[in-house]
Amino acid sequence: MGSLEEILAGFPLKERWVYLDNAATSLKHERVIRAVERALREFGVNVGRSAHPPGEEATRAFERARETVASFLGVDPRCLAFTFNATASIHAVLCSLDLGKGDKVVTTALEHHSNLSPWLRFSEVLGFDVEIVGFDPETGTVDLSELESAVDDRTRVVAITHESNALGSLQPVEEVLRLAEEAGAYVLLDAAQSMGALDHDFSRYHFVVAPGHKALLGPHGTGLLYVREDVLEELEPRLLGGGSTKRVEGSSVVPSEPPHAFESGTPNLPGVIGLAEGVRILEEVGLRRVERRVRRLTDRVLEGLLDLDGVEVLCPEARRATIVSFVVDGRDPDEVSRELGERGICVRSGTHCATLVFERLGLRGCVRASLAFYNEGEEVKEFLRAMEGITRRGASS
Ligand SMILES: Cc1ncc(COP(=O)(O)O)c(C=O)c1O
Repeated sequence: MGSLEEILAGFPLKERWVYLDNAATSLKHERVIRAVERALREFGVNVGRSAHPPGEEATRAFERARETVASFLGVDPRCLAFTFNATASIHAVLCSLDLGKGDKVVTTALEHHSNLSPWLRFSEVLGFDVEIVGFDPETGTVDLSELESAVDDRTRVVAITHESNALGSLQPVEEVLRLAEEAGAYVLLDAAQSMGALDHDFSRYHFVVAPGHKALLGPHGTGLLYVREDVLEELEPRLLGGGSTKRVEGSSVVPSEPPHAFESGTPNLPGVIGLAEGVRILEEVGLRRVERRVRRLTDRVLEGLLDLDGVEVLCPEARRATIVSFVVDGRDPDEVSRELGERGICVRSGTHCATLVFERLGLRGCVRASLAFYNEGEEVKEFLRAMEGITRRGASS
């Protein structure tokens, strides 16, 4: 078990960069890298019913990883499937619901394309309706009264993000859960930005999707799907293949029991083992402390940017935890990002796979600084100093 200082010192890329692009993916800790390597070296064979020793070891390690992550989230391991990213988890849910003509899915203009495009595209094929609810441009919060009117007795799913990846605004997801449950609809919570960063009880939502590779500190190509126990019985898994199919009887398919019914094909064994190690790191730091640290760093970024002439923070009134988005007067966001990159500071620019957000704000994009608990106060200072230089030169040119 490592001290906080040891853990903070264990991210190799931190030595080279001030990394403020954590909303895209997290830096990988030395322990996660070693866990991936150990899995490949010691039991890098297939998971499943192989009756040979390395196969059994791989299966045991995979299931132990599930228990680690489930215990961290306070959920039953049966309700937790490993996928390849948040996008794959959303598709698994969509395919497992009998959506059709007469049904409605309610989502928001704040969503990442992952939580928008699948619903829109499949609505064309399956005939259900999609209603997209707006948000307040000052707070970046979904318009709850519009949402309340949209959610009716035809609504099967309310698909909403917990924390907007484009604006950083936290959504009133408990209120959304209450509204949806009153109407008999499911909530699919996109916890891509919040899981592993916020101390939140995810067990009450019908579906929670998250990547393993962001705040949970796992490797690329890992994701999670949580399905609430009572909802498991109501689903018909349809993203099927090896592992998720128990048997085929004539022309009908008998799916495996959950969670394996949601795990089709060869899983990302080394990734999942690395993800479990990432979660152990978070447990050692303590999720409360993780949240406190990241919120404090984000507040410093926000305050620093608000003090700079020529910088406009998007949704300055937002309740936020890990992300601050902004534009610089007269400067293209990509140019700002490149200039920061030249000084060793990594941020993201563009529309962040959330084009509706920018369409509604009337912007072509923004610069996004996104924090993790392992960032340091010194790194925030360096970023703000660089921003001061950029805006000062902008003003004098
Ligand atoms: C809010 C949100 N939802 C979904 C996704 C998609 O995650 P993944 O790339 O793991 O599928 C992201 C990724 O940035 C995100 O920020």
